[in-house]
Amino acid sequence: MAFPIVRPRRLRRTETIRRMVRETGIQPSNLIYPMFVRPGRGLRQEIPSMPGNFHLSPDTLVEEVRPLAAAGLPAVILFGVPDRKDERGSAAYDHAGAVQEAIARLKDALPDLVVITDVCLCAYTDHGHCGVVKDGRILNDETLELLARMAVSHARAGADMVAPSDMMDGRVGAIRQALDDEGFSDVAIMAYSAKYASAFYGPFRDAAHSAPGFGDRRSYQMDPANAREALRELELDLDEGADILMVKPAMPYLDVIRSAREVFDVPIAAYQVSGEYAMIKAAAERGWLDEQAAALEALTAIRRAGADLILTYFAPQVLRWLA
Ligand code: PBG
Repeated sequence: MAFPIVRPRRLRRTETIRRMVRETGIQPSNLIYPMFVRPGRGLRQEIPSMPGNFHLSPDTLVEEVRPLAAAGLPAVILFGVPDRKDERGSAAYDHAGAVQEAIARLKDALPDLVVITDVCLCAYTDHGHCGVVKDGRILNDETLELLARMAVSHARAGADMVAPSDMMDGRVGAIRQALDDEGFSDVAIMAYSAKYASAFYGPFRDAAHSAPGFGDRRSYQMDPANAREALRELELDLDEGADILMVKPAMPYLDVIRSAREVFDVPIAAYQVSGEYAMIKAAAERGWLDEQAAALEALTAIRRAGADLILTYFAPQVLRWLA
């Protein structure tokens, strides 16, 4: 059967009909809001490359999250921006660190909020790489112990989930083992499994002061040209004990999200990264895009590709737009 019997426009005629046949939606429960924590008190500094996002101290962070949680935000993911960096990123697993304090304060003030933490050394090392460096090389196995220590320190502070973003081999297994050994078998792992070496992380690296001091991250993050390899990475993390698998970035990698959804039965998360956010923001600022329409379209596309959860800097705005 074809035209003129078939007329797809019949089901697009009114908003009510369109709403009835809509296949994909965005709900507050799909959102995870990434936030940047700095040591200190009373701090709330807008990040220039990510308008609408802030460097927050643990106390102001709680106040920032409170209305979002009330509006239905289920979860935040915390990134630390420490004052002190060294070769082995020791501030990352300091029990008195800003992230650890923020976790405790959030769980105290908002016990139902799911607190996720990013586990990676790049913001904490003086060389800006995600692992231990020796003779210009990023060492894999030597890094695992530090990541595990960081994850355990977050769990001890009360984190519900940890999210390793470093892309070292074997880190999900090492973290799972360390969490279990320390009595945190209930703490979940959301693994940045298919994480690409992407130019779209630029604004984040300004925000987290985490740009590599030499070279780049292509010896550990994935080559943007590879999709089959992504499935291999996802499978390995699942086998090592990941509870949620993530693809990152999101919009340039919708095909990878779609395959992940088709191949695996666990929840799939996608990270709409800083560059994806900044592009829409910048174009909207110039009047070249309608910000709300473009952001919701991008997020809908990420959901349509198969993501259950989306990490997005638009989360506070989306909550308002959906309200
Ligand atoms: C840390 C990390 C990065 C992002 C999340 N975790 C940066 C990087 O890998 O260089 C990027 C997030 C974003 O761009 O929004 N490894």
